[in-house]
Amino acid sequence: MKINKICCIGAGYVGGPTMAVIAQKCPHIKVTVVDINEQRIAAWNDENIDNIPIYEPGLSTIVGETRGRNLFFSIDVEKAIEEAQIIFISVNTPTKTYGKGKGMAADLKYIELCARQIARVAKDNKIVVEKSTLPVRTAEAIKNILDNTGNGVQFQILSNPEFLAEGTAVSDLLNPDRILIGGDTTPEGQKAIKSLVEIYANWIPTIKILTTNVWSSELSKLTANAFLAQRISSINALSELCEKTGADIHEVAGAIGMDSRIGSNFLKASVGFGGSCFQKDILNLVYIAKSYALHEVADYWEQVIIMNDHQKKRFANRIVQTLYNTVADKKITLLGWAFKKDTNDTRESAAIYVADDLLNEQANISVYDPKVNRKKILADLDYLETRSYKANASKITTCNNPYDACEGSHAIAILTEWDEFIYYDWLKIYESMEKPAFIFDGRNLLNKLDLQKIGFIYQAIGS
Ligand code: NAD
Ligand code: UDX
Repeated sequence: MKINKICCIGAGYVGGPTMAVIAQKCPHIKVTVVDINEQRIAAWNDENIDNIPIYEPGLSTIVGETRGRNLFFSIDVEKAIEEAQIIFISVNTPTKTYGKGKGMAADLKYIELCARQIARVAKDNKIVVEKSTLPVRTAEAIKNILDNTGNGVQFQILSNPEFLAEGTAVSDLLNPDRILIGGDTTPEGQKAIKSLVEIYANWIPTIKILTTNVWSSELSKLTANAFLAQRISSINALSELCEKTGADIHEVAGAIGMDSRIGSNFLKASVGFGGSCFQKDILNLVYIAKSYALHEVADYWEQVIIMNDHQKKRFANRIVQTLYNTVADKKITLLGWAFKKDTNDTRESAAIYVADDLLNEQANISVYDPKVNRKKILADLDYLETRSYKANASKITTCNNPYDACEGSHAIAILTEWDEFIYYDWLKIYESMEKPAFIFDGRNLLNKLDLQKIGFIYQAIGS
């Protein structure tokens, strides 16, 4: 089937950038991205391209080039479904906050709503693509809903998980390590796979397009995230041992990373991983393993999360201990709130948990992040429900520039590895702070010797 109309349900961090790149690389395909969040769609359509809702290097250029040509953002979900030959589902699949599996299982209510809506609206055969990260065997549930509530048309379900990382989404999409497509082994399933392969083949060498059965594809996404997060928890576990023994985690990571079997990527010790994916997907994996009574498997992967929580907690504890066991009413500056550099996303950012612990110790916190505003910071803290919104707001100051954020403060904690932090006038900052002036570098970003020369007491992770 010649594909010339596709749609994507969910205009978020995955749906938006992914569809923008497809539109750029496939000018012959009309790409419509729909969402129930009117504000988000309005922002994607904002005349001022700088106001699109997601910050990713290079994204606004691509949206500027394609929007209105063959890329459209709309709230008319039904029209988009009706028109499209291929429908990508790219809605959120957060951890459940209620009922069975609360705090572990993926909440599939948004996925099910999409499936029911597709079934109701579709008047001709469709290919439905799982772009969201889903528990293994979700395609079976989607198929059941589609086949039992639809208008008698044929649906093919494909799994096509997204491996982009935020902050590098555009380059990951333009030049991915691989594209994974899982589908039925039937001739119809294979035909559907071929249609999707042909879209990606417009810019990705076919050797990088991997096809598997549906279940392998669904499980590979959870597995990839579990492996990546596991490396961070492993290096973070050893960072604590380094701090006790005089070994330096940077040197240890360098030494093991040169072993080609281990490899050097994803071995940066940090204040702990954040982001919307790692924790959610591992919890989901743990839940699936438990549901098959695979308790050793579940415990093995759960340890990755336990270690990450420990890393965030011990970072905050170390600040309190070093500041003579009290931070009450002391100004502590957090540089960075996003979960990593080059994104405005703050979901599960370590900064939220560090701030929460310091607020429990009655610190006054000032925050500067180049891409995150006060509203978001307060909303993130409010979501934890540790204290009232008002109580958080009275202890948190947010600043539009780093020098104001640091003035009069007892300690600075680096929580995101924004490049600009490296180039600040650290002497000027030192002079404006209370003495002794401390820096807790949760990203091992700054130059220890330079800062010590200025007079800072500098503490990194794992040395
Ligand atoms: P997101 O929250 O940024 O976006 C999801 C969007 O879906 C929201 O705008 C929401 O309003 C919309 N939505 C929900 N239900 C809808 C419905 N019934 N109809 C129309 N719109 C609806 O989420 P995201 O970060 O883009 O993640 C989406 C999926 O992709 C998740 O499963 C996630 O695990 C996976 N994923 C995310 C990343 C990432 O880096 N963020 C990377 C790979 C995979
Ligand atoms: C991750 C996966 O990398 C991506 O393939 C998947 O599609 C979505 O989840 P993302 O969460 O956007 O991507 O960013 P990632 O670069 O993986 O970083 C996640 C967290 O780990 C960040 O907080 C980052 O700072 C931290 N991290 C990463 C480390 O602490 N050390 C490292 O060595 C690498």
